[in-house]
Amino acid sequence: MAAPTSQLLRRKPIAAAEWESPSTSSATLRRVMGPGDLILLSIGAVIGAGIFSSIGTAAAGETLPSGEVVRYGAGPALVLSFLLLGVVCGLAALCYAELASMIPQAGSAYAYAYATLGELVAWIIGWDLMLEYAIGNIAVAIAWSGYCTSLLSGFGITLPEYLTHGYRTALLSSDPIVHGLLETAPRIAGVPLLLNLPAFAIVMAITALLYVGVKESVRANNIMVAVKLVVLLTFVVVGVGQIDAANYVPFAPNGWRGIHQGAAIVFFAYIGFDAISTAAEETRDPQRNMPIGILGGLGICTIIYIIIGAVASGLVPYEQLKAADPLAQALQLAGLRTAGLVVAFGAVVSLTAVILVFQYGQPRIFMAMARDGLLPAWASAIHPRFRTPHVTTLVSGIGVAVGALVMDENEIYDLTNIGTLTAFAIVCLGVLVLRRTDPDRPRPFRVPALPIVAIAGAAACVYTMTGLPAQSWERFGAWLGLGLLMYFVYGYRHSRLRSL
Ligand code: ALA
Repeated sequence: MAAPTSQLLRRKPIAAAEWESPSTSSATLRRVMGPGDLILLSIGAVIGAGIFSSIGTAAAGETLPSGEVVRYGAGPALVLSFLLLGVVCGLAALCYAELASMIPQAGSAYAYAYATLGELVAWIIGWDLMLEYAIGNIAVAIAWSGYCTSLLSGFGITLPEYLTHGYRTALLSSDPIVHGLLETAPRIAGVPLLLNLPAFAIVMAITALLYVGVKESVRANNIMVAVKLVVLLTFVVVGVGQIDAANYVPFAPNGWRGIHQGAAIVFFAYIGFDAISTAAEETRDPQRNMPIGILGGLGICTIIYIIIGAVASGLVPYEQLKAADPLAQALQLAGLRTAGLVVAFGAVVSLTAVILVFQYGQPRIFMAMARDGLLPAWASAIHPRFRTPHVTTLVSGIGVAVGALVMDENEIYDLTNIGTLTAFAIVCLGVLVLRRTDPDRPRPFRVPALPIVAIAGAAACVYTMTGLPAQSWERFGAWLGLGLLMYFVYGYRHSRLRSL
């Protein structure tokens, strides 16, 4: 039976706050955050695996063990990739700022889409956000493991390689030692035992904390952000003296193709500026402060990334950045061993914070979707004592931890990037739609120069996506197909809007 289009396009009224559970409604949340806190929250969520890890592949590209080039690297022109992404994300951030200031509800892009583009698109965004939060965290956990292993080896503790690399990483690696693990690892029933145990352990540890209600406070976040910034500053101050100008030549070894494809992978470094919109109900004067937080955080991170990119590619020939821990590696190859260990320590702290924030966010998005009837009611359960969404916290935690055990970081970056860019493009279009369908609702922040900014934002996101390998498009298509199947089998029939 064909679904009536009217339900697929039904929009949730912006003021439908009475659906929300009392434990998370604005009645119990306190408006404690100002613009400075929001900017720090943004830096906390944004700076992580992207700059500490995916920067290596973005600079050096990726070649399969068979010799097939999967993507071309930007080389030292990585700074241009960062600049380009600053513009792409800036356009999307303006659109986020308008929607976050007029729909200041936790739920972020999912809530905006439900209010603007209707239920089907909202479902697709919610499904997409799973790529951003849960699947993305698999890559962050694997990057955490790379830095943790490197830090431990600096203190003489070496873990067996087969317990620090997942099966997919060994399979896809062009590094002969890592790829060789397929032959050298112990076998169980003929299958090589290749598990990334540190990545699994960090996700399970954070899940346990979140289950019992350890909530990242503004203060704790500010401390972790301070560690990040001090470590990145150390990298720049120590590294800048060791730059060899010869490493900048050739500047763009793969021309525009490399800059574009490099941007498509290092886009991961920008993900998270949008996540602060979920703090809209805990922000003072969100209409004014949300846009400052979103745009301010993005601007600061863009500047930091350009500086780090310039120093990293000046320290060593760009091909040598291809490692699980490229920033620490760059310092160590330049003879700065102690500084390398300091950066490895900072990366472990930074990535722990990112895992925590995203592992905190995913169960709440599931919960919001369950409250709207698009997921089963058990997914909205709140623990009677800990007051946390314990069921979705466990489901998300186990799913991410098991993924981190066996998956490969780079294929995860691709999938996360394509999903998040799609969500950004939809948010850009959502602004246009809402201006037309609800022109009189107050807009404390208005995107300037519409429709140009929104159309350019959506087009820039799609253009960035085209820099990803064909395989990631196929996987994304399969992911969307699975999501649509789930929607029509479950969400379509159980949506609360259907019963209104
Ligand atoms: N932007 C976040 C990171 O790089 C997701 O880890």
